[in-house]
Amino acid sequence: MTTRDTAVKTLRWRNGRLEMIDQRFLPAMFEYVSYESAASVAKGIHSMVVRGAPAIGCAAAYGVALEALRQRGESKETFDRALNEAFEVLAASRPTAVNLFWALKRMRAAWEKIAAQPVGEIADALLAEAHEITAEDLRINMAMGGYGAALLNDGARVLTHCNAGALATAGHGTALGVIRSAVAAGKHISVIADETRPFLQGARLTAWEMVQENIPVTLITDNMAGFMMSRGEIDAVVVGTDRVAANGDVANKIGTYMVAVLAHRHGIPFYVACPLSTIDLNIADGSAIPIEERAAEEVLGFRDYQWAAKGVKVRNPSFDVTPAELVTGLITEKGVVLHPNRENIAALFR
Ligand code: MRU
Repeated sequence: MTTRDTAVKTLRWRNGRLEMIDQRFLPAMFEYVSYESAASVAKGIHSMVVRGAPAIGCAAAYGVALEALRQRGESKETFDRALNEAFEVLAASRPTAVNLFWALKRMRAAWEKIAAQPVGEIADALLAEAHEITAEDLRINMAMGGYGAALLNDGARVLTHCNAGALATAGHGTALGVIRSAVAAGKHISVIADETRPFLQGARLTAWEMVQENIPVTLITDNMAGFMMSRGEIDAVVVGTDRVAANGDVANKIGTYMVAVLAHRHGIPFYVACPLSTIDLNIADGSAIPIEERAAEEVLGFRDYQWAAKGVKVRNPSFDVTPAELVTGLITEKGVVLHPNRENIAALFR
């Protein structure tokens, strides 16, 4: 299998800095923001400059590396203190996507292996590890794409929710990676993109990615999916995920559960593209997955404009949990796990 660079480079390393596309303003503006410290990367993750589980993991790894490079002239004691603080601030940036914690764990393990060496060498090794995590993510997405593409028939009309594309990863994407790979294999695939209220990842990001590559895409509001399914206009659903529990329950962008229930009602396969780094064996089932609650402003209106009544109470859970029984298959880099459960998920790690 070959991996090719995708057109969209969500994160890039330039002149000793991390640069990330500012996804808050896409597609109106395409702009990279530059980062030099762990605290600023944590802010970038929290404010959604970068989002999407695997991309958050890569950004956090670079956040640790940036801090190590910044402290390379310091004493061992100062270096260690600053690096421990970097891990803490990055871990607090967003709670749901487990890839963040997975990447931090890997960076800590890389540090611990060589903790006795001079700080300059540790910094170089941590940067190499962040590069490797990022390169690996692209390879994994290509592998998942291959397995997932085989599940889609030529001519399939595929619904997706949120953005699990190149923008949410180091490249290619997870759910959109499956679609890209199917298209690359010569299949005629069209995408139905849920707009994904309230942050509009579907309308702003998924639609943009597909339009860039001339993959046919139709945008719908989230409440239209049931209608489309009832009219036989959707053949499969493919989404990404932020954390999969040991029993196969899937946390993903708010609204995913609704789509899964509808797909089940209409006998439409519901696939979840899921790198192993997104599976959390420490969480027994979906009820224990931490769900981020975001600011009320996102629901009250968009950017500076408020359309909702002043003083109204708001809930804004950013993710929901789809029970494993509604999942037709998890598409992983090791193959497709049909009807995920505790046993077949554990087998992925043996
Ligand atoms: O709040 P976001 O935009 O970070 O949420 C992203 C999602 O829910 C994605 O579907 C998920 O992270 C998978 S990305 C490959």
